[in-house]
Amino acid sequence: MRDYEMVVTTPGGPDRFEQREIEPPVPGPGEVLVRQAAVGLNFLDVYHRSGLYPWTVERDLVPGSEAAGRVVAVGKGVEAVKMGDRVAYTHPLGAYATARVIAADRLVPIPEGISDEDAACLMLKGLTAQYLIHSTFRVEEGMTVLVHAASGGVGLILGQWLVAKGVTAIGTVGGAEKMELARAHGYTHVIDYQAEDFVARVREITGGQGVPAVYDSVGRDTWRGSLDCLRTHGAFVNFGQSSGLIEGFTLADLAKGSFTACRPVLFHYITDPAELRRRAADLFACVLAGRLKAGIHQRYPLTEVAEAHRRIEARRTTGATVLTIDQAP
Ligand SMILES: NC(=O)c1ccc[n+]([C@@H]2O[C@H](COP(=O)([O-])OP(=O)(O)OC[C@H]3O[C@@H](n4cnc5c(N)ncnc54)[C@H](OP(=O)(O)O)[C@@H]3O)[C@@H](O)[C@H]2O)c1
Repeated sequence: MRDYEMVVTTPGGPDRFEQREIEPPVPGPGEVLVRQAAVGLNFLDVYHRSGLYPWTVERDLVPGSEAAGRVVAVGKGVEAVKMGDRVAYTHPLGAYATARVIAADRLVPIPEGISDEDAACLMLKGLTAQYLIHSTFRVEEGMTVLVHAASGGVGLILGQWLVAKGVTAIGTVGGAEKMELARAHGYTHVIDYQAEDFVARVREITGGQGVPAVYDSVGRDTWRGSLDCLRTHGAFVNFGQSSGLIEGFTLADLAKGSFTACRPVLFHYITDPAELRRRAADLFACVLAGRLKAGIHQRYPLTEVAEAHRRIEARRTTGATVLTIDQAP
């Protein structure tokens, strides 16, 4: 089998994907060639493919921001990894490929005991959960917080990590069939926000107090309700917009309870390679200690990535989706 990548030449729907053969690229100084074993699917990939996030690449877009594989060629001056190492990464774009060249300082070694597939699905989703609850809004034991899309990829990891830290998690899910899964991943209270008024339920659960923080990745459909769930001085952490961009928000919306609002992005928490490795070590330690699982619920061959996109956009996935690469050429 020849190497290939899944390419999008113009922004649009999932049918824009094309399979394109490539020559294995040659790593330059500071770079390595990774033969990829598994790629993690993320809602972020939908934003790129659709053009919601404008492309900043000079050639056709190869989406994908997390993967795992093996180092098979090493450029000059690389010390962080060596030939044969199992490695994983998140960012930069370009993961939908059987092989790719990447800067060595963006890679983290995968510890023994963690599979390539799990590592591929943990790097973006797990590191996001890591920084959100340790750095963006630092949770403390005994708190109660609200997480939207609790049965999604990031959502299932957040639930597991919050309960491990002694935090009570309230999760929202779209559909009754997702509720049990969220409960099984740490959420004490689960609300079907397609059937129930989540603001009223959060008020009820918290005895009218509200929560100190809402982790909201749904955006357009939830942001107003999220603010209404906050207690005085609460934090609105908006880290995505699966339902569409937030419209109509003004700073005056925060005056109701002296709230704070932020829009964090993973890359700004892992720009420094040492910070990337520190956060990844924390994540992998939790996995190895049995406190959290990657939660892979769907598998598609990389060549069938279009179908994987259709399903995540239609809210028909739970947990993580892995894109598999059958065999090395
Ligand atoms: N800022 C960052 O650093 C960062 C990093 C990683 C991910 N994110 C964001 O985190 C979110 C979760 O990412 P993920 O990859 O784990 O995806 P995901 O949660 O597995 O999938 C998105 C979920 O959003 C919910 N949703 C609500 N309204 C929707 C709508 N109109 N259309 C589609 N989905 C809708 C669905 O769950 P229900 O049906 O249960 O509502 C869906 O399953 C995304 O918004 C992503 O952009 C941000």
